[in-house]
Amino acid sequence: MLRFCLLFNTIIILTGIQGTRIHASVGEQLIKKYGEKLHAGDAIVVQLFKVFDAIGEYRTTPHLYKIGFYPTTFVGKALDFPSEIPEKNFADFTDILEGKIDSSCLVDIIGQIVNFGSLENKSIKGKDNMRLLIELRDHSNVKIMCTLWGGYAKQVYDYSMSNMSIMIICIIRFCSIKEWKGVYSISSGFNSTQILLNPTCSLVDEFKLCLPDDSLAITNKDSSQWSVASATSVRARFFVLNERLTIRDIVVSTLVTRWNFCHLGDY
Ligand SMILES: *[C@@H]1O[C@H](CO)[C@@H](O)[C@H](O)[C@H]1NC(C)=O
Ligand SMILES: *[C@@H]1O[C@H](CO)[C@@H](O)[C@H](O)[C@H]1NC(C)=O
Ligand SMILES: *[C@@H]1O[C@H](CO)[C@@H](O)[C@H](O)[C@H]1NC(C)=O
Repeated sequence: MLRFCLLFNTIIILTGIQGTRIHASVGEQLIKKYGEKLHAGDAIVVQLFKVFDAIGEYRTTPHLYKIGFYPTTFVGKALDFPSEIPEKNFADFTDILEGKIDSSCLVDIIGQIVNFGSLENKSIKGKDNMRLLIELRDHSNVKIMCTLWGGYAKQVYDYSMSNMSIMIICIIRFCSIKEWKGVYSISSGFNSTQILLNPTCSLVDEFKLCLPDDSLAITNKDSSQWSVASATSVRARFFVLNERLTIRDIVVSTLVTRWNFCHLGDY
């Protein structure tokens, strides 16, 4: 039993009831068949799929395997998927900044927004993209830069502008880690990233209790001199610009080493 979490072109991330994520791919020719059936957040049962070793640059989870759909793969609704599952995907700011986390994997983060820039239009390959840079801090006052694109940029900018008098705690799910000249930052990356601003949940309450007691105010600074890379890599084209690349373009180095039918048990 899995929760379907992300559909991005032909890539899906499935989360098991233990909170473990696994990367799945649906071939181009199958996306029509399954794409209409699957909605982000649905709990599903998947049967008869293939299992690959998760190698290559375009992984999205640290899981050792990834799964692929056959034309005969069965996808049905899972009715008793728990509403809360263990949180296993939060990444520590210090680990990200020290490069200890595999940057090909998508992570979740929680932080307080302490600074945000202006909403900019960035032209990438002739396409206009809204971009916002924000600075987040964790409970130990470790700060990290985060680049948000498109709708995510607007969502966070509008919320921050009109709520500057309050503390803004932000949960970002499925964000990507990027490295530029040895400096690590995070990005909304995938267009199915989820951003929650001051959600009501115990996770946020606990986070607030651990924050330094300095009532740090949020600031809105000119971000033009903040140094983060602009996105032009193949990965960025895929994740940020939603260019429709084929799986062959993306997973060039992936080899199918194992073809079998299996189920992953109490996954
Ligand atoms: C950015 O681009 C959008 C769409 O192309 C446009 O509506 C908006 O006015 C632009 N904003 C700025 C600040 O140039
Ligand atoms: C400001 O915060 C409140 C809740 O604290 C929220 O309802 C409102 O939508 C926020 N403003 C914007 C523009 O998102
Ligand atoms: C994600 O990309 C798809 C296709 O490129 C698009 O239809 C969808 O609206 C995008 N979603 C968001 C949240 O930007």
